[in-house]
Amino acid sequence: MTTNRWRMGFHLMPPTGWVNDPNGLCYFKGLYHVFHQYSPDWPNGSERGWGHATSPDLVHWTHHGMVIHQDIPEDANGAYSGSAYIVPGGGADGGDLLRLYYTGNVKEPGAHDYIYSGRQANEILIETTDGFNLGEKQVLLRNADYPDFCSCHVRDPKVWSQDGSLHMLLGARDMDDEGLALIMESQDGLSWTTASTIRPTSHFGFMWECPDRIALDGFEYLSFCPQGMAELPWANGLRDQSGYIPLPAAIKLIGCDRVSPALFRRWDFGFDFYAPQTFTDPQGRTILIGWMGLPEPPFDSAPDNLDWIHCLTVPRVLTRCEDGVVAMAPAPELEQLRGEQVPFAQADNAPAQTRTATLSAHRADIVVDGISGPFDLALDGAARIAFADGELTLSFDGGAQGIGRGRQTRSVNVNALENLRVLVDNSALEIFANNGREVFSTRWFPTADQLGIAIKGTAEAARVWSMGDGMEGTY
Ligand code: FRU
Repeated sequence: MTTNRWRMGFHLMPPTGWVNDPNGLCYFKGLYHVFHQYSPDWPNGSERGWGHATSPDLVHWTHHGMVIHQDIPEDANGAYSGSAYIVPGGGADGGDLLRLYYTGNVKEPGAHDYIYSGRQANEILIETTDGFNLGEKQVLLRNADYPDFCSCHVRDPKVWSQDGSLHMLLGARDMDDEGLALIMESQDGLSWTTASTIRPTSHFGFMWECPDRIALDGFEYLSFCPQGMAELPWANGLRDQSGYIPLPAAIKLIGCDRVSPALFRRWDFGFDFYAPQTFTDPQGRTILIGWMGLPEPPFDSAPDNLDWIHCLTVPRVLTRCEDGVVAMAPAPELEQLRGEQVPFAQADNAPAQTRTATLSAHRADIVVDGISGPFDLALDGAARIAFADGELTLSFDGGAQGIGRGRQTRSVNVNALENLRVLVDNSALEIFANNGREVFSTRWFPTADQLGIAIKGTAEAARVWSMGDGMEGTY
């Protein structure tokens, strides 16, 4: 069943099927390109490849369907995640060339554990001069090309250029079940050799997925998704986590062989966030897009037999705070979708600091500034963002059949709550606290026709706009 009530208006998703990691993010020849892991026939088929969407402005999207299929022996079991690299003037016509690097996943027949044997991880290149007509697949790296200490889990290439060389960051699991990042080096982007590894100073997960290098104001960060984290006190029992480690001043990822797990900070404190990827756009902004989903979620993301599942986050602009924390803010372009500003009313008989508003649909941009003291914002009376006693909490009423479909409570310690921005997009919620230092992403499945907002607490200003539909025509 295709229920439109829960479809997104400004969170990227394909028309049907399954989406996971964002891939190949770039701005190329006048368009933003977002590729993504895609299983179009989900829940029936199991093909895994790349879907493709483009936008002139990060707001209005066109989806082009599945564009990289698992159709050569080297990617027989999936065209897995990867990244985009633009070669200036690299095209045959002298124009720029877009290179897409990804991992071809192959599971060999036989009795294998697919960790230490039976799996191929092939790094594959596809070139295009227009972003749409994709060239032949070229297999660049195979298992034998990685160091001997690697298990069969090596994947998710992120390619960039620095100091006159090209670098490829790969996520890996070694034969002792230690997660690490592998760095390969190349001059031409075709022939690669192993250059170095980045390991944690003490055990930190058995596998690192989707590594990324981020540079902000001259400081570098290693972003990655460590697996095997369920036992850690902050992990909410989840195997898969996503975060970053800031490198000390003057230390670059190239040349850094150890990172400290004590400095790991989660990207997102909500329920649904994993496998983010960043790119730099022509304005020099570092933009992050994540998957609003998890590999092994303990809660439901496709209730009522939906024939589609998951979406991506909105594009988020990254900035470095003075203490090294990376703050995330929705790309300002999204404000183009703001429609009517709906006034907050004071509820009858309510204390002076109570404000309520009702919108005709579940698509809104809520901005609350100048917050002081305890604070509480409720949506539809069943989803609540609350700050009290140094803790910021997102919670849902009800259990498996409630509005959060099994999602209950997530929280993070903060000194204060100063401001809040909440993007409501039918079944996606993104909550940015303290100018985006703390972010919560979550799915929810509201059933009311109208969106009810109730705020309790002291704030200088609260504003809410209805939001339009940037996905119109896509499905
Ligand atoms: C992360 C991930 C990647 C892999 C892809 C497969 O969610 O497991 O490591 O390339 O998904 O879809």
